[in-house]
Amino acid sequence: MSAEVVAIYPGSFDPLTNGHVDIIQRGAGLFDRIVVSILVNLEKAPLFTVPERVEIARTVFAGYANVEVDTFDGLLVDYARSRHASVIVRGLRAVSDFEYEMQMALMNRRLNPDVETVFMMPAEPYTYVSSRLVKEVVALGGSVTGIVPRVVEDRLRDKKLARETLRA
Ligand code: PNS
Repeated sequence: MSAEVVAIYPGSFDPLTNGHVDIIQRGAGLFDRIVVSILVNLEKAPLFTVPERVEIARTVFAGYANVEVDTFDGLLVDYARSRHASVIVRGLRAVSDFEYEMQMALMNRRLNPDVETVFMMPAEPYTYVSSRLVKEVVALGGSVTGIVPRVVEDRLRDKKLARETLRA
């Protein structure tokens, strides 16, 4: 077994929020390396393409030597094995997250008992923040300043403007 503890932080990150950033920073302080692993899910209709999401995360974490950004498809535990990761990090915001997260953690443990899921709580100001709500607020003209990284805010504005231009 490698001495280095590698953690995977998987998700859709459509878009990356400050809640995600907070968890990644905490993970970077706990593990030798944390890999932000963006799911390539062909079924969903995402707002940002996978290459856009990778670029955003790489921009935000450019100054972090032990944060890596990658993509994956297929089973998370297979990907974790391929990355020699022993930990899956997930953020827990509220009790409402718990049931789904517990199901995933126990299914992943059944599939690969060598990978441990570690839950972390984001800082209080982000406990209600989700990518879904961010998209909804932006689509309806609200501000998401302070709950997403600046680069995400800029990209959301560009996307909205592009859509409005196309419709005009
Ligand atoms: O951002 P999300 O939607 O909360 O992330 C969900 C994710 C990517 C962690 C989950 O859908 C996943 O792990 N997908 C990969 C397929 C897989 O391994 N499924 C079985 C999980 S029990």
